[in-house]
Amino acid sequence: MAIRRILVADDEESIRWVLSKALAKQGFAVDLAANGSEALELFRRNSYEMAVLDIKMPGITGLDLLSKIQEERPEVLVVIMTAESSMKNAVEAMKRGAYDYITKPFDLDALDAIILKAQKASKVTEEVHRLKEELKEHHQLDRSIIGQAKPMQEVYKILGKVAPSDATVLITGESGTGKELVARAIHYNSPRLGKPFLAINCAAIPRELLESELFGFEKGAFTGATERKIGKFEQANGGSLFLDEIGDMPLELQAKLLRVLQEKEITRTGSSTTIPVDVRIVAATNQELKDRVKAREFREDLFYRLNVVPIELPALRERRDDIPLLVEYFMRRVHEEQQVPARGCTEETMNLLKSYSWPGNVRELENTLQRAALLSPDQLLTPVDFPALLESNSVEEAEGSLESLISNKLRSSLAQMDVQELDNLYDMVLHQMERPLIKIVLEKTRGNQVRAAEILGINRNTLRKKIQTLGIDLKRD
Ligand SMILES: Nc1ncnc2c1ncn2[C@@H]1O[C@H](COP(=O)(O)OP(=O)(O)OP(=O)(O)O)[C@@H](O)[C@H]1O
Ligand SMILES: [Mg+2]
Repeated sequence: MAIRRILVADDEESIRWVLSKALAKQGFAVDLAANGSEALELFRRNSYEMAVLDIKMPGITGLDLLSKIQEERPEVLVVIMTAESSMKNAVEAMKRGAYDYITKPFDLDALDAIILKAQKASKVTEEVHRLKEELKEHHQLDRSIIGQAKPMQEVYKILGKVAPSDATVLITGESGTGKELVARAIHYNSPRLGKPFLAINCAAIPRELLESELFGFEKGAFTGATERKIGKFEQANGGSLFLDEIGDMPLELQAKLLRVLQEKEITRTGSSTTIPVDVRIVAATNQELKDRVKAREFREDLFYRLNVVPIELPALRERRDDIPLLVEYFMRRVHEEQQVPARGCTEETMNLLKSYSWPGNVRELENTLQRAALLSPDQLLTPVDFPALLESNSVEEAEGSLESLISNKLRSSLAQMDVQELDNLYDMVLHQMERPLIKIVLEKTRGNQVRAAEILGINRNTLRKKIQTLGIDLKRD
């Protein structure tokens, strides 16, 4: 925790005055208390990173306060001010967990040195904490990008070339195609690995908030700005910032963003100081940004500035061959992460999964498999475990065997019937097969029944009878 706000407690007004001046000048927020109970009240009401307490105050003493702080919020660093004469007190303070002590009358430099030391230590702690978090996240998100299909190989090629640079990348693709996954992969494969990767969704946050989130503001910049806020650009300094759904960024903010990208510096709202930032931008959109540019909803100059390296992610239906790989991968993940037994798919299921159109792309596949794996009692998942797909009419006639296609169609038709009520299902279904089959063969033979009977391997008379009973229209247009 970096030191931002400091509580100073001393019953001597001159000391309070000197400390508040000196600390405020260094940019800290300072609150002053003239005695122990005031200090305790302030401490409980606000959040401080450091407290500088006089050891000798009427009523609640600095040592008492120290104990209370240690009890309630041990992470707050406490510096005790003691009179030079009483070394014993200093020792006692340290024993009770004070961070450090200074002796009065003191030199402001001594306090500076303590704060500096604390800042450095907190930076290290913060860094360690952040690295740990990031490692954890990295581990969790060691979500390799799965896929070997041509369009994915194109993606890997660009990714490999662009990741090590600082180039701005614009990732496009339908929802659920892995834009965020690719954005992270770019960061983790860049020299910025180990520095923050921050994401912000421009569509999910209202305009005014989005500006604050990105650029931050100074205390008092507007009503309600009671504390300084550090924006994502500053937080991501040295790392990467993922601007998701960039197409939804309001025009005014686009102008501000463009300036930041060009100048490589930001200005917090309510401040006139510019702060240099070194941030790599990865943006993503599932809209046609060019169309938005035409409609004057997206700045053309910003579009070109962002679109330095475009990466286009294919829809899942454009890379159906990757589906078995993805299925295997997600099954393994559910198994490992959710204590679900290891599961597989029947061939028929795989064909169903391969023929569905997946409007929600990989995310939909992932969720669908998770649900099926959690709910199915069987070790091998069958099409029945995917009722949503069976009912959907977006199962397309994709590659896959004729049998599996028919099987899928049949399953979905039957799902809509009350099978218990039927008594001639076999004939009904076979007739539905026969009619198109005979029609197609007759088309191919241009109505030549002799030839058609040969191809079908049935008797000419049988064919003639079937044409009658099935009511096949022989007229050709
Ligand atoms: N190629 C892939 N390999 C493995 N997992 C993937 C792949 N693509 C996407 N995923 C997974 O699918 C889910 C959705 O991916 P992601 O959030 O990156 O999509 P997105 O394109 O950002 O979607 P949206 O536009 O809806 O935000 C995530 O759980 C992600 O891990
Ligand atoms: Mg996303």
